[in-house]
Amino acid sequence: METNWEELYRDGISPWDKGAPAPPLVNWMQKNPGLLQGRILVPGCGFGHDVREIVKASPSAEVLGIDISPTALQAAGKLPKAGSETYEQMDLFALPDTLKNSFDWIWEHTCFCAISPARRDEYVDAVHGALDNDGQLLAVFYLDPYDEDHRPGGGPPHGTSREELEDRFLSGGRFIVEEKFVPEVSYEGREEREMIMRLKKAHL
Ligand SMILES: C[S@@+](CC[C@H](N)C(=O)[O-])C[C@H]1O[C@@H](n2cnc3c(N)ncnc32)[C@H](O)[C@@H]1O
Repeated sequence: METNWEELYRDGISPWDKGAPAPPLVNWMQKNPGLLQGRILVPGCGFGHDVREIVKASPSAEVLGIDISPTALQAAGKLPKAGSETYEQMDLFALPDTLKNSFDWIWEHTCFCAISPARRDEYVDAVHGALDNDGQLLAVFYLDPYDEDHRPGGGPPHGTSREELEDRFLSGGRFIVEEKFVPEVSYEGREEREMIMRLKKAHL
């Protein structure tokens, strides 16, 4: 069943939101100063903590946060601005032509996990289609958030696995792996359960 994100936000149910940017993003930007530049898309940005953190680290970047939930974006817009960031209510699966092949980077954080497995190939198509030539997807994927011993309340509705990520993103040859590792820092409870992947759009 598809999650009704707008209803959750309207009901004040957003346990995935930690009120702060994703620790692996902060850590990665500290280790790679200035690498995130140009036009940057943040799909499923929620309240926009990652959007603003990217703008703080790369003030000249043009960062667009999109989300299908108007309530989340309204809240994001009320938080103190970091710089020139913008937000738009938009479905990642229905990007306008003007945004296709146009981004230098996409930052992904618990949007893929939020998408039902039945639509994840469409997700891969959407991010691939949004990136310009040589554009890169920088992602922290939340792996297997639910199992018998570990059922955190704050996780996205669907987990993923290393195998699924490799199968969906890499098997078609559309992306080249630039980096892949388990981040050193995570939100509490997600330690060792995340995977950073930096994937460059391949020339086919
Ligand atoms: C688990 S939340 C994560 C939000 C944010 N990245 C964070 O970590 O706080 C998933 C987000 O993806 C958004 N979302 C789900 N499907 C989407 C779609 N097709 N297009 C754009 N946003 C979507 C939801 O509204 C929600 O804000």
